[in-house]
Amino acid sequence: MGNIKKLAFGTDHAATEIREAVKKYLYDIGYKVEDFGFCGQDSCDYPDFAVQVAEAVANKKADKGILICGTGIGMSVVANKVKGIIAAVCWDEDTARFASQHNCANILCLGSRTATLIEICHRIKYFLNTAFEERHQKRIDKIKKIEKQQHRCQ
Ligand code: RB5
Repeated sequence: MGNIKKLAFGTDHAATEIREAVKKYLYDIGYKVEDFGFCGQDSCDYPDFAVQVAEAVANKKADKGILICGTGIGMSVVANKVKGIIAAVCWDEDTARFASQHNCANILCLGSRTATLIEICHRIKYFLNTAFEERHQKRIDKIKKIEKQQHRCQ
């Protein structure tokens, strides 16, 4: 969509089977993809990939991020630790759309064990094709304020 051109992408072992197909989908719909994760069938740790994707988005090396683990939950927990990140686990097309429209999410987290490849691609499409609605900005400002206060206390 519009100005989003470059995506940071990461998966753990739970998404090894679908990761290339998801990347192909992203290329096919016109995005550049920087891939931060691959561990094959070996067991690996989602924080290692989530933090790299989150830092790439926070440092504006990518416009948005896509993270896939078994459920999306672990990836989102980690990504949300990085300043500037709003990562959302989405379980259908509507939550993917609202994550952009209402929550200004910059990372979409998905579960390879809770969705089919087609469902995952549809959620990505809705997430990327939906713009943030300015009327929600004051809530995002409150999130940023909380983030600032929390980081100050550490
Ligand atoms: C790995 O087995 C699994 O725990 C991970 O992919 C993810 O679902 C964590 O939230």
